[in-house]
Amino acid sequence: MKTLIKNGTLITASDTFQSDILIEDEKITRIGLNLEVDSNHQVDATNKLILPGGIDPHVHLDLPMFGTVSSDDHYTGHKAAAFGGTTTAMDFVVLEPSPSGRGQGEGDFNHSVDLWMKKAGKAAIDYSFHMNLTQFNDRIAKEIPSLMKMGIQTLKVFTAYNGRLRIDDGSIFKAMRIAKDNGMLVMAHCENGDIIETLVAEALACGHTTPEWHAWTRPGWGAVDATLRVAGMAAESEASVYIVHMNMGGEVDMLQYARERGVKVMGETCPQYLFFTIDNLRQPDGAKWICSPPMRTKQDNARLWEGLTNGILQTIGTDHCPFYFDGAKPMMYEGKEIAIAGKELGRDDFTKIPNGLPGIQDRLPVLWTQGVRAGRISANQFVAYTSTNPAKIFGLYPRKGALLEGSDADITIWDPEKKVNYGLAHSHQRTDYNLYEGWELTGYPEKVFLRGKLIVDGERWLGKSGDGQFLKRSEGEVL
Ligand code: URP
Ligand code: ZN
Ligand code: ZN
Repeated sequence: MKTLIKNGTLITASDTFQSDILIEDEKITRIGLNLEVDSNHQVDATNKLILPGGIDPHVHLDLPMFGTVSSDDHYTGHKAAAFGGTTTAMDFVVLEPSPSGRGQGEGDFNHSVDLWMKKAGKAAIDYSFHMNLTQFNDRIAKEIPSLMKMGIQTLKVFTAYNGRLRIDDGSIFKAMRIAKDNGMLVMAHCENGDIIETLVAEALACGHTTPEWHAWTRPGWGAVDATLRVAGMAAESEASVYIVHMNMGGEVDMLQYARERGVKVMGETCPQYLFFTIDNLRQPDGAKWICSPPMRTKQDNARLWEGLTNGILQTIGTDHCPFYFDGAKPMMYEGKEIAIAGKELGRDDFTKIPNGLPGIQDRLPVLWTQGVRAGRISANQFVAYTSTNPAKIFGLYPRKGALLEGSDADITIWDPEKKVNYGLAHSHQRTDYNLYEGWELTGYPEKVFLRGKLIVDGERWLGKSGDGQFLKRSEGEVL
């Protein structure tokens, strides 16, 4: 099967140029001007941009939390991603205890990956996994390198969620050493778990139960201090480290400080931290904006943008982890009614509101308008942050994140002039709200190819459950 895309403008992380692209089966086989090839399909991309399919390095699909589950699974979340121009998503495996009872509730990597593979059987775009390292002992330490053989090159550690997901700093440091010796990357969720525990207990004792208290009890200084602490451990262990969902201006400062001193530390931010503030949590529907870490201030938004403009940060992921605002009311998805308990679980207590928000589809369209068209980042930086850099950092380049002969034909044809009044009506995310409701966007995906197969054509969905492949990843680059 040959598809020839004619007359498009290719945007890569470093260049912008006119070219045709030939896709043969799953791969890009030729890039050049005026290609004359017998093909099964031709696509005229005059006045359109050709981007490598987006790579979302941070999503949580079908994630159990607070007695419910994130409302997009590996089919619905992937479908939404594709409509937003994203063709690869990286999800986090929850470390579950061994079914054999080995070590009394101790996490078992093989078993946990098997469980996640089963969930992801319905994948509609390509995907890979990070492992949540939420326990640490000698046996787990010994087994970490086995993850590389499974194609999982990344460990996520938490400096918050005491008693649940957090491991102590000594264990994080030891995990970093193991990662360094085995070509792995440590991803870090940076907040100060001890301060959070204290402030949450005090807030509840005083009867503060509204959503804004989620932010007051997870202070920004804790995120800044944890970022520097993690960067310090990276320096000392010489490991490669990636700070997820950076949300504070001060975190950008710490990242810059460490990087200027040669520490192999990289940073990701997410669209929500570029646009929203604690004021959103004060609204009557504030629970929609509850995620961890929380929204901060306008000054933080601005410093994060500066971090992108100046290349201090390396990627923009989503941390897509949607919940319904009112999970008691079913919504229609592909012709069926579905209700999944969501934010209403914490109506009377902010600590019971499931943490997380939607964004996997919104990322590219919102960032194009607010980033590229607004002049904050170039089109090439847009591609770097949302596709090429994640591919390089997470060991997928140049198979993914590239418009090169031999790369997978994951291609988004982008109409830079298409105007959309964005929101729920355009969204395929399986939740009952959209954070960007009513935003006027200019620039939108028109066609999306996954390994040569057209899966989105305007409003038409041509993909299906099972189209997505698991991507085994190898050692990545430090950018
Ligand atoms: O609120 C969020 N972000 N939920 C997902 C878990 C995490 O820490 O990334
Ligand atoms: Zn996190
Ligand atoms: Zn996350």
